[in-house]
Amino acid sequence: MYQLTINNLSQNEFLAQYWQKKPLLIKNGFENFQDPITAEELAGLAMEENIESRIITNKNNTWDSHHGSFEDFSLLKPTHSTLLVQAVDHWHVESAELLEAFRFIPNWRIDDLMVSFSSPKGGVGPHVDQYDVFIIQGEGKRHWRVGMPQSELKEVIPCKNLLQIENFEACIDVILEPGDILYIPPGCPHEGYAIENAINYSVGFRAPNQTDMLSSFADHLIDNELGKVRYSDPMLSVRNSIGEIQKDELLNIKNLLLNVINDENALQTWLGHTMSEAKHELDIAPLEELYNCNDIIDLINQEDISFIRIGGIRALYQVNNNEIIFSVQGENFIFPVKMLESIQLLTDNTSITSDQLKSSINFSLFIKTLTKIINEGYWYVE
Ligand code: SIN
Ligand code: CO
Repeated sequence: MYQLTINNLSQNEFLAQYWQKKPLLIKNGFENFQDPITAEELAGLAMEENIESRIITNKNNTWDSHHGSFEDFSLLKPTHSTLLVQAVDHWHVESAELLEAFRFIPNWRIDDLMVSFSSPKGGVGPHVDQYDVFIIQGEGKRHWRVGMPQSELKEVIPCKNLLQIENFEACIDVILEPGDILYIPPGCPHEGYAIENAINYSVGFRAPNQTDMLSSFADHLIDNELGKVRYSDPMLSVRNSIGEIQKDELLNIKNLLLNVINDENALQTWLGHTMSEAKHELDIAPLEELYNCNDIIDLINQEDISFIRIGGIRALYQVNNNEIIFSVQGENFIFPVKMLESIQLLTDNTSITSDQLKSSINFSLFIKTLTKIINEGYWYVE
């Protein structure tokens, strides 16, 4: 269990003063920090084909970027090299624990845990990310500089696949030690170079842009045969110029588009579906011997049984007039509002005990769904 201390700030004070506003150095955010993963284990993950990884080298100011998977680590030199592995929380249970310390931010905003190993002087160079990130220092030390958003920053491409920026002015210039954390809002330039072999953990967030959302919502409309209302103009009259699309016609089109977004049911269904989908592959193994609902009830009736959500599974819910849309791994389930507390057990905790579930035992729809998501391999029983 990792206990996060944000200097002398409460979680609410941090959100009000820093979240999406300005970078913050959190000195000793995790006291006596113990790395959940070793460099060797990280390298092991980078050998897997379905895990996204990169090695970046910057010897003599010459940048190179190589995509994994890797059969060996000859590219990872004793200096000037970084190995980065995405979505480590999906594959490594102990690393996934780190995310739990940041769960004061809603599930749907949290993306994944990226872990890097850098040899001395290794780094990815000065860059800007589009998402908030907490960078936690694990073993070793790394020199970080972070700036406020600067409009004049010029982009440079030192090698294919690597987008960097020119020099920036730093408001934080610090050597991070184990357990120290940097919070960096979107758009803030930053760069970090290892002083000694260093492991860093980046807790990344999701913030879809309008294009992402409109295109995904349009896919949802197509898949569900929605949004079929066509433009119509029964009040059309003869006009002087036939070349013009008139303002009121533009307005009609705008309203037609807004009507489909104003369909709250369609919007919520899409939102649950899209936000509960993981961006990276998951370590899912559907059960070969399936449980039935009675098996699950028997387990709940026992003592000391835990139901554990696997790393990377996104569990969310939305309340709609008189029902709840529970979403997991791109699938929506509808429940009556009286089952809210049972659903919250699944969404707000990564592990729940049979004791916590006892009050839900008579909700047959809930038990049926729990049985399904366990059989799918999204939760496991321990
Ligand atoms: C890293 O750990 O090297 C990269 C983290 C970042 O700058 O986003
Ligand atoms: Co970054």
